[in-house]
Amino acid sequence: MKLGPTNRRIAAGLSLVFFAALPARAEPAGAPRAAAVILTPPPGPQPRINGARVFGVRPGHPFLYTIAATGDRPMTFSAENLPAGLKLDANTGRITGAAPERGTFQVRLLASNALGAARRELRIEVGDRIALTPPMGWNSWNCFAGAVTAAKVKAAADAMVKSGLIQHGWQYLNVDDFWQVHRDDRDPTLQGPHRDAQGRILPNPRFPDMPGLADYIHRLGLKAGLYSSPGPWTCGGCVASWQHEVQDAQSYAEWGFDYLKYDWCSYDGVAPRGKKRSLDDLKKPYLVMRDALRRQPRDIVFSLCQYGMGQVWEWGDAVGGNCWRTTGDITDTWESLSEIGFGQAGREACAGPGRWNDPDMLIVGQVGWGPRLHPTRLTPDEQYTHISLWCLLCAPLLIGCDMTQLDDFTRSLLTNDEVLEVNQDPLGQQAGRVVQTGDVEVWAKRMEDGSRAVGLFNRGAQAARVAAPWSDLGLSGRQRVRDLWRQRDVGVFEGRFETVVPSHGVALLRIFKEEI
Ligand code: GLA
Repeated sequence: MKLGPTNRRIAAGLSLVFFAALPARAEPAGAPRAAAVILTPPPGPQPRINGARVFGVRPGHPFLYTIAATGDRPMTFSAENLPAGLKLDANTGRITGAAPERGTFQVRLLASNALGAARRELRIEVGDRIALTPPMGWNSWNCFAGAVTAAKVKAAADAMVKSGLIQHGWQYLNVDDFWQVHRDDRDPTLQGPHRDAQGRILPNPRFPDMPGLADYIHRLGLKAGLYSSPGPWTCGGCVASWQHEVQDAQSYAEWGFDYLKYDWCSYDGVAPRGKKRSLDDLKKPYLVMRDALRRQPRDIVFSLCQYGMGQVWEWGDAVGGNCWRTTGDITDTWESLSEIGFGQAGREACAGPGRWNDPDMLIVGQVGWGPRLHPTRLTPDEQYTHISLWCLLCAPLLIGCDMTQLDDFTRSLLTNDEVLEVNQDPLGQQAGRVVQTGDVEVWAKRMEDGSRAVGLFNRGAQAARVAAPWSDLGLSGRQRVRDLWRQRDVGVFEGRFETVVPSHGVALLRIFKEEI
């Protein structure tokens, strides 16, 4: 590596800053928690358009895309070259309607306020594929689990707007298990008839108005998700979709839901067991629900949850999945996070626009699987690693915390647009591991513009020097290195970049060809 004096200074500065900002050792149990240092710069007052640059919709289906933009309000929006059938609300930035004609539409978005204007291209693909970038949103499980209510979901939706997260591309509000009636729980708010006389699923008393809930979420410019299982019961023991798949898909669509997580669990008792279970048995329930969903006049993102059985990443797309869990459930410890996150290596060829590997939901903020919550047990460094790695992996980003208790540090982790761009890049290439030396790993992915997003990780208990050689990144010559968490250029480097990364920490970079 050839470093000029300036670069040497900047590079040394980066190491020092990482040292100073982030602790060098894992804290022993009971020790004071390491200070949570916010690296994400606050958004500027001028307009900046964020969020997905490509959006897929099926012809004629209801369309909702909210332009995510930071900057002072009031802000007005306009769009050129929208497909026929779509219209933009200039004040809210919401594009709605239905586009009947198939095709690719290169739309030019404009956001203006008193201080200036921002422009950006949005590619709208009217065709068969949806979820062209990984879904970003919230799910009720990691905070409320069996204590979820419609009121809590509405409060989460309100918080998505009030916290400003909506301005960074966050959109789904997904109800997980426990919106249905429970098979035997004594809690009266979980009791009631399972289905109506026609066999249609009935929610439990905590969810008195399902269309009203979806409508509430849509009116905020957001989208709504639900959860079920192909077996008779969900994982938590509530009524699920076994032998009612088409009716259930119809209900979800009529109510106005946009996302379904479909969780194997009690299907274990339906499918053949042990050695008799074939790959077809694993695929079957997902094909049934895929067909039921496809018959609906509405786009519903289909999220497979069966913990990676039968290497689901190899066939999740073929059974209609937009994403598929590759692992068991995550919890808020370093062991869980690192085993799951770094265990994703080698699956990158299976992901792409509309088909994503899902290493489970985010475990930052106030989590607890209900009803009692606690701050995530991850250290700040581990949280930087979590978000950086999930962005590099093109993982669905589903926040698992109580949105009404979002602290400044957690918000900063979820609102760094340059970091989120790594996740939402239209090329949709999942990062792979390019270096593994002891506890040190480098993960990299190609971005649509030809630049690389690179994570320098240190899984060890001591700070370590981590190097990213250009030869491992498919690069050569002079490259501009940008620190994505700080949104700052570090300098121009040749041959390699290296820095000191704290224990369980990360340096997340974007590397651009330096024009001569
Ligand atoms: C399984 C899933 C979790 C959650 C629960 C609900 O454990 O993996 O994500 O949906 O079921 O009971």
